[in-house]
Amino acid sequence: MSQAKRVPELGEIQETLLIPLYARAVETRKRRGMLSDPRAVEMVEALDYDFARFDGARSLLGSNLRTLLFDAWVRDFIERHPSGTVVEIGTGLNTRFERLDNGTVHWFDLDLPDVIDLRRGFFEDTGRRRMVASSVTDPGWLEAVADSPGPYFLVAEAVLIYLNERDVRSVFELIAGRIPGANLALETATGHMVADQDGHDVLRLMAARMRWRCDDPCEIETWRDGISLLDSRTFLSLPDPVRRDLSRSYRLMLRTVGTIKRKEMESYHFNLFRL
Ligand SMILES: C[S@@+](CC[C@H](N)C(=O)[O-])C[C@H]1O[C@@H](n2cnc3c(N)ncnc32)[C@H](O)[C@@H]1O
Repeated sequence: MSQAKRVPELGEIQETLLIPLYARAVETRKRRGMLSDPRAVEMVEALDYDFARFDGARSLLGSNLRTLLFDAWVRDFIERHPSGTVVEIGTGLNTRFERLDNGTVHWFDLDLPDVIDLRRGFFEDTGRRRMVASSVTDPGWLEAVADSPGPYFLVAEAVLIYLNERDVRSVFELIAGRIPGANLALETATGHMVADQDGHDVLRLMAARMRWRCDDPCEIETWRDGISLLDSRTFLSLPDPVRRDLSRSYRLMLRTVGTIKRKEMESYHFNLFRL
């Protein structure tokens, strides 16, 4: 007998987690997809949600490219610090731990309570991995993280762009104050991208809106002493290991879209900071 599907009951911003989840599932079902995430396929099949409305959206590919880049940064950290701690801020139903676990890394999956409630239907806490129900703007979560072995790598994939700049600044302050030296990966969207979001192929189907505008990620270095931008990429400057693993047709697609839609592609930056 097949199990009843679960209706995801999520707030407006929280619902956006279903976009990268679906993107990974769609890619996994392809014969030569850029990533494989069988858990994402299972979760999509277990949820009662109209995912089909995202079908054909080009930004699903963009979501997966972003995931691959963030995976590459986290993988690199874990190779250098096999027993350090990774914090997935705004984890949604992400499966980065399943993709990258080395058997010794410590891991936190942080998100708002309704998301963690949904997530607990699919994932369990273990000795090295824990879910935390909290807003990233609430300082409490950092206490548990600070008790876990350093160094620290925090990844906020498609999360902070939904906050206003004041809240993003407070997140930098909290992290830099409690675990100085931590790495933080996040993306920034230019004013152009934020202004155009009503025409975005999947975001226009959602109630959530990006709020934080950041034309130049270098500006963030001026927010507080000690913040440094270690790397910054766009879809047009993905690092070699990520580009090399893409099939020829995806590399060609990136080059073509990059020629036609250069401004859009350069409006979205993936950044790695040290705090
Ligand atoms: C587009 S989804 C990205 C999910 C996940 N990072 C991924 O790539 O699959 C945005 C996520 O950010 C979370 N989020 C938004 N505001 C948050 C906040 N203040 N604190 C913690 N998480 C938040 C949402 O609940 C949602 O899970």
